[in-house]
Amino acid sequence: MVKKPADSLIVMTELVLPNDTNVFGNLMGGRLMYWMDIAAALSAQKHSNAPVVTASVDNISFLNAIKLGNAVHIEARVTRAFNSSMEVFLDVWGEDLVTQQKYRSNTAYYTFVALDEHSRPKAAQPIEPETADDVERYNGALRRRQLRLILGGKMKPDDAKELKELFEKG
Ligand SMILES: CC(C)(COP(=O)(O)OP(=O)(O)OC[C@H]1O[C@@H](n2cnc3c(N)ncnc32)[C@H](O)[C@@H]1OP(=O)(O)O)[C@@H](O)C(=O)NCCC(=O)NCCS
Repeated sequence: MVKKPADSLIVMTELVLPNDTNVFGNLMGGRLMYWMDIAAALSAQKHSNAPVVTASVDNISFLNAIKLGNAVHIEARVTRAFNSSMEVFLDVWGEDLVTQQKYRSNTAYYTFVALDEHSRPKAAQPIEPETADDVERYNGALRRRQLRLILGGKMKPDDAKELKELFEKG
């Protein structure tokens, strides 16, 4: 069954409590990445109708600290499915619940692999992008996959045709 990115949408909200913070009273990056991993895994499972494992996490840059007592909103959706792997896009922001002002924390890509009953990779469902944003992320997912497989030592740079074309275009 062909699914759309919206079919795998997960929206998670957490409250930053004292135990979640660093010495500056802001949310710890590790705690945020833990919540992001859970939101992304739920999204990948929703897409694939199967249990999944995290295969890799792309680089994450934190733009603004999220403060104690603020809310954290995480949106996750599958951008593209390959064979057994799926890329999940995450959009994360904080919210001061008193002023209701929202601020961007980060965006990130996680990759998950669907597993069968023997814990071996199994085929993920195909996906069809719907909106203009979906199409942009779907197209970019191929190059991001090539880059992460090269960095993970699982692909030769010479085999990354679409990624190479990006650099050769200038
Ligand atoms: C991820 C994992 C399932 C890959 O299994 P594998 O035996 O290497 O299988 P394969 O080489 O056939 O790869 C399976 C898929 O994983 C993808 N993959 C493997 N390494 C990857 C990486 N570093 N980044 C992105 N995708 C990766 C492959 O591209 C392939 O995707 P495809 O089927 O869509 O083409 C396996 O390495 C694993 O279980 N890792 C531990 C996962 C885990 O415990 N995560 C929690 C963190 S502790």
